[in-house]
Amino acid sequence: MSDTTNLKHLIGGEWVGGGPIFDSLNPSDTRDVVARAPADDGTRMREAVAAATEAFPVWSQANPELRSDILDRAGTAILARREELGRLLAREEGKTVPEGIGEVTRAGRIFKFFAGEALRRHGFTVDSTRPGVECAIYREPLGVFGLISPWNFPIAIPAWKTAPALAFGNTVVLKPASLTPAIASAMAQILVEAGAPNGVFNLVFGGSAAGQVLVGDPRVAGISFTGSQAVGGGIGKLAMERQARVQLEMGGKNPLVVLDDAEFDRAVQCALDGAFFASGQRCTASSRIIVTEGIHDRFVAALADRIGALRVGDALDPQTNIGPVASEGQLSTTLEYVAVATGEGARLVVGGGQLKREKPGYYVAPALLADTKQDMRINCEEVFGPIASVVKVRDYDEALAVANAGDFGLSAGICTTSLARAHHFVRHVRAGVTMTNLPTAGIDYHVPFGGTRKSSYGPREQGTAAVEFYTVMKTSYTLA
Ligand code: UN1
Repeated sequence: MSDTTNLKHLIGGEWVGGGPIFDSLNPSDTRDVVARAPADDGTRMREAVAAATEAFPVWSQANPELRSDILDRAGTAILARREELGRLLAREEGKTVPEGIGEVTRAGRIFKFFAGEALRRHGFTVDSTRPGVECAIYREPLGVFGLISPWNFPIAIPAWKTAPALAFGNTVVLKPASLTPAIASAMAQILVEAGAPNGVFNLVFGGSAAGQVLVGDPRVAGISFTGSQAVGGGIGKLAMERQARVQLEMGGKNPLVVLDDAEFDRAVQCALDGAFFASGQRCTASSRIIVTEGIHDRFVAALADRIGALRVGDALDPQTNIGPVASEGQLSTTLEYVAVATGEGARLVVGGGQLKREKPGYYVAPALLADTKQDMRINCEEVFGPIASVVKVRDYDEALAVANAGDFGLSAGICTTSLARAHHFVRHVRAGVTMTNLPTAGIDYHVPFGGTRKSSYGPREQGTAAVEFYTVMKTSYTLA
């Protein structure tokens, strides 16, 4: 596992390099350089947008069967290579191999789903209020979409933005996160092999300079971004200045409410999985665990035991439950928030320190903080690491109020055996996704995904909802 791949941008069907090079490191062993990629300063980005612009007229008019077949072949290839790609993902991002394979499988299924969507009828007709006139509502592609994806789901998120964009006849320029270029490149390669015509899908590596060029280019009709709130806010402003479409999926500070009547073991499992798997680096992670007082002490003790038993180690080791965090930055942020929380009066129940392993990597012991209050920074700011805090509440009403506090509104969960409470929660919690007796993270690919308030902006992603963002309606009146 020490071979280094030299990556290139994909522009107009050509693999091109040039410019400074950056390394993609294995977070489980930072001596292992997974890939070297060129970092664009904006020059290649402009070329990629030009290629996508040129490819759009033919692609948008192509037989939908052609688009469907390409997406289907890409999905088949991803699924066939899921073990190998899952390992590459684990090596590059740091989630465990089963998590990596799970994500790659999801990406393959997404391409298959949108292969179907490409053939489905999305427009409709209505009789006009004027006699003899017929109204037809078409859904048309818009042009070039700029897709900016994060490192924590480095193939699933590029897939769920790329597949609908292409299915509905748009062309794409993808700028993947700089921490995970190799897995994004593998997806690009697969799309080329599946028959995507030159310029229909383009891939450019780079940091914020390249991203700004993509967002600001007047030839780009829409931007879909997943990442932090701070970056998303800036992208939204830039895109709106020139009236581009924009879809932002940003952070979460997702509550998991555990009531006294919950099935105990299931609730502990939900918290463990939701907060710590994938090293807590999911925007849907259960970072605030809100527990009613009757069950609180027992719950915290049981959860701490389970956390303490998690094996943190090399993502490629089959014994590992939790891999490292993805980067040095993530490591220091996580450790910093442990200090912030304890400084604010939180009690560190378990974990929270950096771990030394045989190989040099970004290992951190999953941390549980108790005795926290909703207004502490640890309960208001997204950490994006293996860290969760517990807020003790009197009853369901207080639990709901705490769940609804703060700026975010992505995913919210409840563990209870009361149908009435579960239903009340689902209807009253301020979030775009709710989970009953399930972890807050781990979503399906064929249904809408997105949040409320500071978590998301613009139309929903995924499933049948994706057509909203990647097409525009045209209303046609005809007197026959
Ligand atoms: C999941 O919980 O299955 O970046 C997906 C993220 C989200 C996706 C979460 N956009 O973590």
